Amino acid sequence: MPAAPDDTTPDPTIAELIAARPHLRLHAMDGLVMEDVPLNRVADAVGTPTWVYSAGALRTRYRALTTALRDAGLDAHAHYAVKANDHLAILALLGREGAGADVVSEGELRRARAAGIPAARIVYSGVGKTERELRLALTEDIGQINIESAEELRMLSALAASMGRTARVAPRINPDVDAGTHDKISTGRAGDKFGVPWADAAALYAEAARLPGIEPVGLATHIGSQIMDLAPYGAAFARIAELVRVLRDQGHTVRVVDCGGGLGIPYRNQPGPGPEALAGAIKAAFHNLDVRVALEPGRWLVGPAGVLLASVILQKQTAGTRFVVLDAAMNDLVRPAMYEAWHGIVPVSAAAAVAPVSPCDIVGPVCETGDTFARDRLLPMLSPGMRIAILDAGAYGAVMSSPYNARPRAAEVLIDGAAWTVVRPRQTHEALWADEIMPA
Ligand code: LLP
Repeated sequence: MPAAPDDTTPDPTIAELIAARPHLRLHAMDGLVMEDVPLNRVADAVGTPTWVYSAGALRTRYRALTTALRDAGLDAHAHYAVKANDHLAILALLGREGAGADVVSEGELRRARAAGIPAARIVYSGVGKTERELRLALTEDIGQINIESAEELRMLSALAASMGRTARVAPRINPDVDAGTHDKISTGRAGDKFGVPWADAAALYAEAARLPGIEPVGLATHIGSQIMDLAPYGAAFARIAELVRVLRDQGHTVRVVDCGGGLGIPYRNQPGPGPEALAGAIKAAFHNLDVRVALEPGRWLVGPAGVLLASVILQKQTAGTRFVVLDAAMNDLVRPAMYEAWHGIVPVSAAAAVAPVSPCDIVGPVCETGDTFARDRLLPMLSPGMRIAILDAGAYGAVMSSPYNARPRAAEVLIDGAAWTVVRPRQTHEALWADEIMPA
């Protein structure tokens, strides 16, 4: 397998980036097209910056994931990690495909329910759930609560007992495995705030089995996000499988293994494991344990299905650098500023997409140097008003946006074949301060 990209690996070309994304193509007249809709048409109608998602890509990806799990012979269920993109239209689409939800807050739980996802298919994750949130989870009788500490387990037990409910619980195990991804999104190392140390897991499970209002149903883990190497998954799953055996030897019932999310996507067209490989790693660890497998995929399902459309405000030459200044900024898509993330950037116009390229820095208008989408990127000359698409922005894009610099929230559009819908209009400036109160 070729090595993962580093700073010396050449970037994929514009043509390579488009070719690797099946819901995108370049039309000689219409330019960049998603499914059957030219993105220029969307930008003409809605303006920019605008998030655009492909319903077809979402369905294709969900089905590819579930097919891979089924073909591996696994009894597996996908609980979409709502945090990746919590738009109701996306939750409803995945829910109709059969997905459950992995939620981490009252807001996400309410969203998932509002989108029609049955409570029984909801898993609640997170290192700090409030009493109010746990109460809601119990009232809704959701499928599973992944607890992350003895403190939380005891709080949940007291609450459930007082409500006359039983919480189906899976302790999240911290397997002390480095997922080999960005430091800020690694979650399974011993020093990370997440989960129960794997050495303490058996004692905690035994306590869970004794406590009122608690039914321990299995184990959970989640070692990080944007994982492009199967080895850490293998190491984590091996530890969980070992724990399943230990717990069963001690007489406990362990029905479920929740393998978390984390499967990475090839932002730079780099090789990486797909759902088949992940299914293989799960199978290798758990095949003879007769467990039901849960997964919490976020990015892999929705990331490639979305782009952020933006317009060029101006191009300027400063100290030898060509800066392309966009009307989108770090307040819209924070990933490059926050994680040094690489996103493909392609022109929307057909002529520009095949024009000669030279290096430039792509930046937003926000007053921070960190407001940089890409450095030394090979792109054609881009004049004011020309549009570009920032690729793979469907996950951790709109959900992480902020109104910094008093910039309204960008519009969102869902394309389905030749049809497209504005699923969230651009926020108005007045809405930015509509709920602010002046003291008397
Ligand atoms: N399950 C749990 C418990 C999680 O914490 C996460 C993500 C997932 C599932 C879904 O992981 P995924 O399949 O999407 O990798 N904002 C960062 C990513 C943060 C991920 C947080 N947890 C980014 O933009 O890269």
